Amino acid sequence: MSSQKHVEMTAEELHCQYEYMAKVKEILQHRYVHPPLAHVHSFGCQANVSDGERIKGMLAEMGYGFTDSTDSADFILYNTCAIRKGAEDRVFGNVGELQHNKRSRKDMIIGLCGCMMQQEQVAAKIKKSYPHVDIVFGTHAMHKFPQILFQALTQKQRVFQIDDSENVIAEGLPIRRDGSYKAWIQIMYGCDNFCTYCIVPYVRGREHSRRPEKIVAEARELVAQGYKEITLLGQNVNSYGKGLDGDVSFSKLLRMINEIEGDFRVRFMTSHPKDCTHELLDTISQCDKVCRHIHLPVQSGSDRILKLMNRHYTRDQYLDLVRYARAKMPDVTFTSDIIVGFPSETHDDLLQTIKLIKEVEYDALFTFIYSKREGTKAAGMDDPVPEKEKSLWFRELQAAQTEVGSRHNAALVGKTLRVLADGHAKSGEGYLTGRTDSNAVVDFKADDGHIGKFVKVHITKALSWAVLGEIVDE
Ligand code: SAH
Ligand code: SF4
Ligand code: F3S
Repeated sequence: MSSQKHVEMTAEELHCQYEYMAKVKEILQHRYVHPPLAHVHSFGCQANVSDGERIKGMLAEMGYGFTDSTDSADFILYNTCAIRKGAEDRVFGNVGELQHNKRSRKDMIIGLCGCMMQQEQVAAKIKKSYPHVDIVFGTHAMHKFPQILFQALTQKQRVFQIDDSENVIAEGLPIRRDGSYKAWIQIMYGCDNFCTYCIVPYVRGREHSRRPEKIVAEARELVAQGYKEITLLGQNVNSYGKGLDGDVSFSKLLRMINEIEGDFRVRFMTSHPKDCTHELLDTISQCDKVCRHIHLPVQSGSDRILKLMNRHYTRDQYLDLVRYARAKMPDVTFTSDIIVGFPSETHDDLLQTIKLIKEVEYDALFTFIYSKREGTKAAGMDDPVPEKEKSLWFRELQAAQTEVGSRHNAALVGKTLRVLADGHAKSGEGYLTGRTDSNAVVDFKADDGHIGKFVKVHITKALSWAVLGEIVDE
């Protein structure tokens, strides 16, 4: 028996949660004249946003409507992120403000869930210092949300469900997607990599992959519904399939999804360089629906720091991957995450990262100043560089990327590219914005009827953060 069978939610458990949904629905029908409104906000990464969509699916099943405003909500849920201190502070600030909502509407329910809540010390702090919060549950209890809400509605006490058992894969729960033409599919949960700075393995549990047939069925349904872009999500999609029976890998999954008929494109994130193989790059080059954009976080360009981070690759190995991918796909683009100011990092280490940025020529970078996370290995490492100095390094790195990014955008001028129109642009009245297959941001003049559709855009001008263009060939 594979380890997978242990982690899937059982049919009985699923049935039980659907029963709770029905019970909550009945309670709400008695309690409210109009359908009550829920406000759900997800902080953090796409995994959290996707979880938020499942929570909204369950809420819709229970009879809730939705509102963007916390003032008109009968139920407020914040789905939290613990990746950096800043992310946690933001949540605490937002939760503090909800005191006013509770004061004016005593019968409303306030809930917190997600990565921060999986940490015992955070749950304890909420219990003690934030008495207006009624419900707290961690990532491992998400599939029990209907039961938790039922308890909150029927008992006159707060519900804290910080389950430290393993996370489970929940198939068959409802989902209410935020978008009508772009969708996320989580292909795996958790993370086994234990990069020394990172809290994710502690708050999301061990890595588990969903079965390929479930993922392909979900993708097929999305395409049938008219979705134009599917992004496959996992903390390390390149190790997809570990623990599953049969001959399963991320390359094979990509090929299966690529075979689905229809006019759509496929993205994926995040790729860990240590598991990014030539076979995977070959696959991307051979699958016409898979975008030639790879988010391949390098974190640092210094081998000494990479080792301390427990990343399991060197800068040379990383650069070899980039070279191989470019040889196979001259139009492939790369984006990356970088941490500045990891414990013991020196300015020389930073210069190596800057050199790497110039060698790779990233399209875009997500740069973060190192944030100490209690419980991680790096939290015990000496960290002598003052924050002020780290901020200067951060700006130095960003300046290097701005130069690289502008060059990249300038190179797009004169090309005609496929763009999925996304919404209104900041460029001005009458402009829409969208992304090319290689993930560049393009603004162009067009009416709203194009939103959610693929259009061909001729690129006419480069800005530092985007390019401008004109629709052709309508
Ligand atoms: N699983 C993905 C990313 C997860 S978190 C991966 O392996 O790339 C997203 C990014 O947050 C990371 O890539 C890293 O750059 C950053 N990050 C994670 N922990 C951090 C910390 N303690 N301080 C600063 N940045 C951090
Ligand atoms: Fe964190 Fe590393 Fe896992 Fe990414 S791969 S989630 S950075 S531990
Ligand atoms: Fe944050 Fe959790 Fe994602 S910590 S970055 S929401 S996995």
